[in-house]
Amino acid sequence: MNFYVLTLFPDMITQGLNTSIIGRAVSEELIGIKAVNIRDYTQNKHGRTDDYPYGGGAGMVMQAQPIYDAYRSIADALPGKPRVLHMTPQGRVFDQNYARELALEKDLIFLCGHYEGIDERVLDEIATDHVSIGDFVLTGGELPAMCMIDAISRMVPGVLHNSESAEDDSFGNGLLEFPQYTRPEVWNGRTVPPILLTGDHAKVDAWRREQSLIRTAERRPDLFERAAVSPKERAFIENYLANPETIE
Ligand code: ADE
Repeated sequence: MNFYVLTLFPDMITQGLNTSIIGRAVSEELIGIKAVNIRDYTQNKHGRTDDYPYGGGAGMVMQAQPIYDAYRSIADALPGKPRVLHMTPQGRVFDQNYARELALEKDLIFLCGHYEGIDERVLDEIATDHVSIGDFVLTGGELPAMCMIDAISRMVPGVLHNSESAEDDSFGNGLLEFPQYTRPEVWNGRTVPPILLTGDHAKVDAWRREQSLIRTAERRPDLFERAAVSPKERAFIENYLANPETIE
């Protein structure tokens, strides 16, 4: 899978994604990440890529021409028409299902804005998706693009090795992941839940499922409402929420 990022700050992308699991996936050529500097495509002799907004107002607007030419430098070499994701707080909110959908693509182009925004005409021309990573405003689209590339890459077959399996991930089954513990058995006077030391896998699995349910109901009631949870489990959680101290 190949990710192309149209940006004024290519170093941010290449430096931010060259470590850990994503860096390894690039070295193993399971994914490709190419940052394209929009400034390299401006026809302005002073290297400008932005200008004042028509109609007045604060800030600068990124011009259509350099973005379009940077886009064409990528898209013209690809078979078919790739999806172009415009990073904006005014977009569809990114989540695990959206990541799963995008992981099916062969090529993705990310368009990162800065300043007050991008000339709407080039967005009309090339953007297929407007994507937000949450209801807050960042100074640019680079961090959102990096978040998305990370989340999508770990769904590409081979990117996670066995020990990093995505099976138990939060959201994998619509629930948050259960809590984890490692050595020592007692730390700072806090003990590991005894069931995890029994070696009884069925009991451990049942306990973990219960913890996932509790955690999701407490921290993300919105997710819990939508999760695939049996009537028995739902009843258990209702009871737990009414008397939390009787369980655990
Ligand atoms: N650009 C600025 N803020 C953003 C956000 N929340 N999501 C995506 N792109 C952005």
